[in-house]
Amino acid sequence: MNKHIALIAGDGIGPEVTAEAVSVLEALGEGFTFVPLAAGGNAIDAAGEALPPATLAAARECGAVLLGAVGGPQWDGLPGHKRPERALLGLRAGLGVFANLRPAYLMPQLINACPLKEEALRAGNPKGEALFDLLIVRELTGGLYFGEQGRRGDTAFDTESYSRGEIERALQAGYQAAGRRRGKLCVVDKANVLESSRLWRETAETVSKAYPHIETSYMYVDNCAMQLIRAPGQFDVLVTSNLFGDILSDEAAALTGSIGMLPSASLGNLKDGRPAGLYEPIHGSAPDLAGRDQANPIGAILSAAMMLRYSFGMEEAARRIEQAVASALAQGLRTRDIACCGPEERTAGTKEMGEAVRRCLR
Ligand code: IPM
Ligand code: MG
Repeated sequence: MNKHIALIAGDGIGPEVTAEAVSVLEALGEGFTFVPLAAGGNAIDAAGEALPPATLAAARECGAVLLGAVGGPQWDGLPGHKRPERALLGLRAGLGVFANLRPAYLMPQLINACPLKEEALRAGNPKGEALFDLLIVRELTGGLYFGEQGRRGDTAFDTESYSRGEIERALQAGYQAAGRRRGKLCVVDKANVLESSRLWRETAETVSKAYPHIETSYMYVDNCAMQLIRAPGQFDVLVTSNLFGDILSDEAAALTGSIGMLPSASLGNLKDGRPAGLYEPIHGSAPDLAGRDQANPIGAILSAAMMLRYSFGMEEAARRIEQAVASALAQGLRTRDIACCGPEERTAGTKEMGEAVRRCLR
């Protein structure tokens, strides 16, 4: 097994949160080697481009890639094709990681940090519990993010284009996940308006026939945005396009208490029996928190757990990390984003939270 992990700490809080994830992985004593690589705003400053070709080439040689976050206000003036975010898009496309898994579940320890009323949490939940546990599968290397874009005089345009093949492979990833979960899959689109969405639906109608044991449903994205806050417990797996998945995953993240909690795994085709994998918290670089030991490292730590699960086949170690995070939260430790000032709570910095997770791991 290739136990080299490309470490792209990135900008803003990226280095702080990935440092905690790396320490957690090291605490497992599984012999991983970390290969630090530059991408994002720091790479623009150092090398003149957001994604130096050497970074992509080295990342491809590793067993998996762990990324913090990229971007910041100091690079806001750059033209679109030079911005730090290009590094992220270039990595996703360059590694061929087309299926982005973004799990969002409410940990019972964080119920007070969830902005929903208990009745909304109970609604739509088959067992009536005040919980939700969903997975957004976001198509990651196509759609509006990668279509033709440009300017014509006073007009600007972006293009949403999907091939049947691109839709099929995203759906397959969704069905496989639904098979491991509660067997429900909802295709989220805007098929009442968009032609690309109609192709999503058509393709899903065909692909779903191969998964008769999975219950397939369809929902327009505007309704889905509403249903997520009305009754998130109704969802298991949601499969959707790049842009819709970007938006809905921020919404789902807020329901878990904070966007700082959410990990993600971006997976590609199998190579030597394992998918190409890029792992990153779904939050951004949060420049206002950078260097202050205030960022929540849990999204990054849980991304490391997903890496163990998908890129290294280490399910038990992945669960140990997830359990350690739950235990640290159960002990009352809270970074500022998830603090609700409960009597049993204690505010912790980035490092202290990471250390608490490592202690629970032992
Ligand atoms: C995400 C982020 C990125 C995206 C940005 C930083 C380009 O919002 O990973 O969700 O839109 O994909
Ligand atoms: Mg986003």
